[in-house]
Amino acid sequence: MQPLLKVENVTKRFHQVVANDSVSFEVMPGEIHCLLGENGAGKSTIAECIYGFYKPDKGSISVNGEVLDLDSPAEAIRHGIGMVHQHFVLVTSMTVLENIVIGTDAATAILNLQSATDRIKAICARYEVEIDLNSKVWQLTVGQQQWVEILKALFLGARLLIMDEPTAVLTPQESRRLFKIFREMTGDGMSIILISHKLDEVMQSDRVTVLRKGKRVGTVVTRDSSKSELTNLMVGRDVNLNLVRERSDVGLPMLVVSGLHAANDFGTDKLNGVDLTLNRGEIVGIAGVAGNGQKELFETLMGVRRATSGRVMLADQDITNKTPREVQQAGIGHVPDDRFAEGLIPDFDIQSNLVLGVHRDQPFARRGFLKFGQIRSFAKQAMDEFAIQAPSAQTICRTLSGGNAQKVIVAREFAQASRVILANQPSRGLDVGVIEYMHKRLFEKRKEGFAILIASEELDELLALSDRILVLFKGQIVGEFSHGAVDLERVGLLMAGHFDDAPNPNADRSL
Ligand SMILES: Nc1ncnc2c1ncn2[C@@H]1O[C@H](COP(=O)(O)OP(=O)(O)OP(=O)(O)O)[C@@H](O)[C@H]1O
Ligand SMILES: [Mg+2]
Repeated sequence: MQPLLKVENVTKRFHQVVANDSVSFEVMPGEIHCLLGENGAGKSTIAECIYGFYKPDKGSISVNGEVLDLDSPAEAIRHGIGMVHQHFVLVTSMTVLENIVIGTDAATAILNLQSATDRIKAICARYEVEIDLNSKVWQLTVGQQQWVEILKALFLGARLLIMDEPTAVLTPQESRRLFKIFREMTGDGMSIILISHKLDEVMQSDRVTVLRKGKRVGTVVTRDSSKSELTNLMVGRDVNLNLVRERSDVGLPMLVVSGLHAANDFGTDKLNGVDLTLNRGEIVGIAGVAGNGQKELFETLMGVRRATSGRVMLADQDITNKTPREVQQAGIGHVPDDRFAEGLIPDFDIQSNLVLGVHRDQPFARRGFLKFGQIRSFAKQAMDEFAIQAPSAQTICRTLSGGNAQKVIVAREFAQASRVILANQPSRGLDVGVIEYMHKRLFEKRKEGFAILIASEELDELLALSDRILVLFKGQIVGEFSHGAVDLERVGLLMAGHFDDAPNPNADRSL
């Protein structure tokens, strides 16, 4: 059988960074082929080369034996290559239909639009995707927005679909469904290139190509390999995501939230009376399906969103509806879930982002003057600790890989906080080596007496970290479990809104 895609000796540089160093691999028809590698290994870059967004400096890319002269995504699309990006590129004020047909012939004539609609509906029916073509994209969940991206690629006739960390933003149910549909697609003869840091997902592929520092270190048949072999290929050592939990002396309440109410940006109530207490020396995990108020809870605690009622006490200080700067100065650090929108100023360099918010304070400034020496040495240390890969502390954050951007935020917030850390999906997009390091640091902070709140859609991560797990459903805490007494079955039922232990037949089909 002839490969559908052949990548041969592709090299791509950005100034002094060699993002891809003579990379070669092949994708067969009907194959799910994973690209695996540490943050900054060059996965997104090679994907963008195949999609024609970047032109390789050297090497060739061929489809069905024909060497492509790709110099734009339009050319790639003509050859049946589609891509869903790590950060979506939809126009949120337009409808699903408009987003799919934009830039195609169908967008210009009413007759074409009708046949386009029919074709999109047929694709939806084939893969059992229920989506209203007339809703505006901003009204959709992140999972549904991803479907719009996939439908767009299929509408344009993709035979090879490149997915860059698709499930980083999906709920576990959505990601299970996505994989089922991937298999139906490959059954229809399509091929998929999947980029993911989640080893459970990687293990569902047919083959895996591992990249390390821009070079290919190997391609393996997935069923002949294992998670630990893949981890070793990727980071060059064993990684342990189940660190030994040392005993921690849980102290007095540090952060006490009572009866908290808040709405989302569209005025819909998202927090409906949240009560929770974080004690010193304790990690509390929030389990819940995305969209049940996690985002609003963290934002309200941080002063980014207004509480409509209720109270937030930090020790004996009332911090309800204080400004973000006041909350930060009170000793609370925050890792938001949307790194490019809320966590970073993309056009600033790494060192500026690392001292964001405290650059006017000791030790980074004195009498109104910034102390650049201090800022530089702090940045260097943070970059070493979190293995932030960039040519220097003056690298602009926009050019960082997704995971490296996330590391800048985590490093800053861990360094700035003195009493409380609030982290919403902190490990999203991080490679396993960095997750291991972050977990180690969280345990250190817990030992130092920090009160820590973490939301994660990875139950395994919550189980490994948390002293207590709270389940958030429709803006309320509906269950609590202490470490060692977690009933996973029950957590799952509560997350799906079942308080009477009856399984919900529709839980897996919600899109
Ligand atoms: N437009 C750009 N300008 C400069 N450097 C870039 C640019 N895009 C990527 N890089 C650099 O190329 C390297 C590879 O980045 P890439 O985004 O391909 O990594 P990745 O494997 O996708 O990582 P992640 O898992 O974090 O998403 C990184 O060092 C990154 O900083
Ligand atoms: Mg990437």
